[in-house]
Amino acid sequence: MDKIVIEGGVPLHGDVMISGAKNAALPIMAATLLAPGEHTLINVPPLADIRTTKRLLGEMGVAFQEGEAPPGESGGVPWEAPPLRVDTSNLSGWEASYDLVKTMRASVLVLGPLVGRERRARVSMPGGCAIGARPINLHLKGLEAMGVKISLHQGYVEADAKRLKGAEIYFETPTVTGTENLMMAAVLAKGTTRLKNAAMEPEVGDLARFLVSMGARIEGIDTDILIIHGVKELRPSTYTIMSDRIEAGTYMAAAAITKGEVTLVNAPIPHLTAIMGKFIEAGVPLTVEPGRLMVHPGGSLTGVDIRTLPYPGFPTDMQAQFMALMSLARGASVITETIFENRFMHVSELRRLGADINVSGNLAVVRGRRQLQGAPVMATDLRASASLIIAGLAAQGTTEVLRVYHLDRGYAHLVEKLSALGARIKRMPA
Ligand code: EPZ
Repeated sequence: MDKIVIEGGVPLHGDVMISGAKNAALPIMAATLLAPGEHTLINVPPLADIRTTKRLLGEMGVAFQEGEAPPGESGGVPWEAPPLRVDTSNLSGWEASYDLVKTMRASVLVLGPLVGRERRARVSMPGGCAIGARPINLHLKGLEAMGVKISLHQGYVEADAKRLKGAEIYFETPTVTGTENLMMAAVLAKGTTRLKNAAMEPEVGDLARFLVSMGARIEGIDTDILIIHGVKELRPSTYTIMSDRIEAGTYMAAAAITKGEVTLVNAPIPHLTAIMGKFIEAGVPLTVEPGRLMVHPGGSLTGVDIRTLPYPGFPTDMQAQFMALMSLARGASVITETIFENRFMHVSELRRLGADINVSGNLAVVRGRRQLQGAPVMATDLRASASLIIAGLAAQGTTEVLRVYHLDRGYAHLVEKLSALGARIKRMPA
């Protein structure tokens, strides 16, 4: 296991390229199962979770090749990773095994496409994770409404979908992967499916646009009512994955906490409204150009309250990173986590760096300090790890972040990108 060692106190400076969005790439890779043939995916981020998804699909007979996109396909932007060729011509299985699902719960995203194309699936029930129980009851309830027979057998969800038909489905709470799974099951179902109270996260929209590029008929993209008219078949497609708004927000926090001057290149500006609003309220000067977001050194930070909400609200995936920033702001910041029941694992680690944070239920009160002191800290989940890196960049002295494999799941070339911005950061065996 590696650790990351940071000497804090250096204002970051320069440009950073924002990578493709992990939470768009994962469902889009799963969606390739819906159409036999060779797909080309551009701007897929080089992440551990992407490698896990390639293993998962590979076990079903999907073949991968890092290719060169036809000229002009990638829009001329120097995308980080080469285009990914995905060949789904010969599927040989319809199972997502326990050892893969326990590594990455987003493996559950193969459920919808397998039901759609194979009319059957055998997917391990994802267990809980550090941030919460994260049930999939709404995924299964929606599939049953579409005529899928669901049974639970030795920890596996077994789905039999010989009679897959359109249905009217209302989500009692918006669910990102639940909306994605049911949209993928619906595109080849008989008749029309309406998903109400659907998740509106931009990554759901990116999946919908990929499905449309394959020949799916979907109305209401980016809204909370998705109408999917089933078609007989879909065809393979070439698609460019959107940029990652959470990675962008993470680098915004790193720039702001070090009072740096950083330009985010390929930032998905339209998806950053809630995040940018809170940074501006906290006194971080921002300027925007198409696809570029500049963070400028401001005066002292002001504590602001945040409440995580489904999109377009402030994203739960930015809560830990913003809390790190607030630990050095003037005054108090009340942070309410409304999405997951246990997403304050980073608090006790931030406290080790000197942060003044009190938690009561789903509410954390941060009282800004003048300084943080470097110390060894333990990463517990993907975004908590990012929060500790951000705090370490500003803390006086040396911060060591242990168990950095969590970071590899969602941040491509994090150490290289921060080093290029002037951070004194290195990765080494723990
Ligand atoms: C997606 O997880 C993201 N993962 C998460 O990102 C993100 O934090 C989350 O959405 C919320 O935005 C991917 O897209 C791969 P949900 P997901 O279903 O779909 C409850 C990261 O850091 N719920 O929208 O699993 C659930 O318990 C990860 O990149 C049910 O009760 O989240 C939660 O309270 C972490 N029953 C709420 O809904 C269900 O059947 C929202 O969860 C499904 C969800």
